[in-house]
Amino acid sequence: MTDDPLVRVEDLQKYYFEQDNLLDRLLGNEPESVQAVDGVSFDVREGETLGLVGESGCGKSTTGETLLRLREPTGGAVEFDGQNVFETDDLNEFRKRAQVVFQDPFSSLDPRMTAGQIIREPLDVHGVGTEAERRERVEELLERVGLSAGQVDRYPHEFSGGQRQRVGIARALALEPDFIVCDEPVSALDVSVQAQILNLLDDLQAEFGLTYLFIAHDLSVVRHISDRVAVMYLGEIVEFGPTEEIFENPSHPYTEALLESVPRADTSEQGRDVGTLSGDVPSPRDPPSGCRFHTRCPYAREACRAETPADYELDAAGDHRSACFRQVDDHEYWESPPLDDGTRAVEGTADD
Ligand SMILES: Nc1ncnc2c1ncn2[C@@H]1O[C@H](COP(=O)(O)OP(=O)(O)O)[C@@H](O)[C@H]1O
Ligand SMILES: [Mg+2]
Repeated sequence: MTDDPLVRVEDLQKYYFEQDNLLDRLLGNEPESVQAVDGVSFDVREGETLGLVGESGCGKSTTGETLLRLREPTGGAVEFDGQNVFETDDLNEFRKRAQVVFQDPFSSLDPRMTAGQIIREPLDVHGVGTEAERRERVEELLERVGLSAGQVDRYPHEFSGGQRQRVGIARALALEPDFIVCDEPVSALDVSVQAQILNLLDDLQAEFGLTYLFIAHDLSVVRHISDRVAVMYLGEIVEFGPTEEIFENPSHPYTEALLESVPRADTSEQGRDVGTLSGDVPSPRDPPSGCRFHTRCPYAREACRAETPADYELDAAGDHRSACFRQVDDHEYWESPPLDDGTRAVEGTADD
């Protein structure tokens, strides 16, 4: 691993616009938008695993898919190995070098294609190798991900969940990529199988020098696999830093809450929501003013509703950053009145 960034994401923005209808246009109404990703910046260093964590719906998949340009961005820039991904017309090289593994291998693998066809599709699309070479490559990939060449003609439904994810990983590896976005690759799997897939990803990274953006809703999953972690809340990154710093010395109240909600091994289950956070996640159609976390934050004060925190650097190198006023000793936050729970939970209604 080096300090050189392979991927540089700057102020990435992705809004989903509702179908704008004629009536709305006649009335001059702006189409409503979901601010799924709103000004996200980070880099992924060559050979590292960057974990991207946050509750369901906070914009993780949108971040991953937009930076791969599988979705068109609303704003911002992405640089991959020096190439501006959003401004180039020739994505061919980038499409080979940057791949994705999805959460649910059952819906991301075409049920009518055999494992062999699925894995060789990228080779066909990019015209890599001769017919015989492609067949050989597929067999080699099957074996490399822990399946056997004899399973080449099986269909997705004939595999277990973990095996299906292995097929998805083999497909992602087919073109010898440098970078893989792993979008919750183990979240849909039985706990007993998760570790096997994580180990496989780890081995492949060491063998091929891969760089990962590893997306998860569960902090405990990213702890062992990530070099650094970005914590996302409602379309923004609220804390970023080396994994040990994030776990041993969390700075943002949202990170703290996520850490408190990490389940014990015996109670973990897939798709579980964060339990200790009070209140619902606000809608990304109309995110809260100021700090977006202020409606659920135990430390929220008036300043948090009024003003948007910057990214404050917690160390001289700027490796650990947090978007919370509490990092600034002399911030006016400390003088501003607390927002008590009642006010925030039932804002605008009379108390009883
Ligand atoms: N195609 C889409 N059209 C409209 N809204 C979407 C679309 N995809 C995702 N969203 C919304 O964008 C937000 C972020 O979604 P997503 O990136 O899938 O979050 P995560 O991966 O963190 O669960 C959510 O509010 C989601 O409902
Ligand atoms: Mg997702």
